[in-house]
Amino acid sequence: MSDDLERLKREASERLERITSEDDLADWHRDFLGRQGQITSAMKGISQLPAEERPAFGQAVNALRNELQEAFDNRQDQVLAASLQSRLQQESVDVTLPGRTPLAGTLHPVTRMIREITRVFGLMGFQTVEGPEVEDAYYAFDALNIPQDHPARDVWDTIFIESEQREIVLRPHTSPMQIRTMEQVEPPVRVVVPGRCYRYEALDATHEWHFHQIEGLAVDTSITMTDLKGTLAEFARQIFGQERKVRFRCDYFPFVEPGVDFAIDCMFCEGKGCRVCSGTGWIELLGAGMVHPNVLRHVGYDPDVYTGWAFGMGIERIAMLKYGIEDIRHFYQGDVRFLSQFNRVFA
Ligand code: DAH
Repeated sequence: MSDDLERLKREASERLERITSEDDLADWHRDFLGRQGQITSAMKGISQLPAEERPAFGQAVNALRNELQEAFDNRQDQVLAASLQSRLQQESVDVTLPGRTPLAGTLHPVTRMIREITRVFGLMGFQTVEGPEVEDAYYAFDALNIPQDHPARDVWDTIFIESEQREIVLRPHTSPMQIRTMEQVEPPVRVVVPGRCYRYEALDATHEWHFHQIEGLAVDTSITMTDLKGTLAEFARQIFGQERKVRFRCDYFPFVEPGVDFAIDCMFCEGKGCRVCSGTGWIELLGAGMVHPNVLRHVGYDPDVYTGWAFGMGIERIAMLKYGIEDIRHFYQGDVRFLSQFNRVFA
């Protein structure tokens, strides 16, 4: 082999031996075995040789190329293995470390309460329906026997939506769905309506500007107040215990006649009188009554043929009583310490 080829071989081998990175490998390959590398230019030099020396020289260059290619392949294997090894060390996982438990989300206590209450009414044959939160004042008031100039319209501290054409409100109660439901179907009607409501309200421990209600409505031939009391008693006992006593007292709501407030004996003091029941022994749960004939007329039901009753309750209030929550504002502050407690309660 010529001196030049000897020198080329030595240079290539020495450089290859020092290589530890993939980048350097690529550079080396380009410099020696690449299309413009030293082996290629050595091959081109063949034209300068006398004819009789050419075959031997050609063979020598080919042999050197094969030798260098083999050396390169070996070095490449070593470099790749070493870098894989070091990556494995850096990225290794200690499988003996204790795991981190992922934080699982849970249903909001109001959502759970809605499911529990609608389940109880579902067992008694009530279908659950939902309605719009942005509501036409006709459904929120007029059709519920609360005309424009009626003083009872002030009872609901309504949030109005600006509108040129019609009076639009954020619904202050779920009662509008009584009307929407009756407009859609013929009796018999048995529905409960859970949903969010809004009022222009000063906030305190028992008042939020948005909260939830469940409305109930039953309309059929020969529905009486006895059915109302029996149904509500069953609901109260399912939620607050079989031993609960129940009480009706007269109350006024424009869309019912007669209207009542429905109370249970205080489960904290068994009716003796305590802080929760303000010493009365009774806890008011909801408003109810026999659907007013005017309401039936508004939806085209004949009040001489059909009777019905309705009720409406605040869901947060039921949850507060059931789980001893002292402030309604807890529900909407998004504090995980509060919310996560209901995992266990409802499990
Ligand atoms: N809508 C009433 C309110 O928000 C609650 C209510 C009372 C609903 C009596 C009724 C009812 O259906 O019969 O204050």
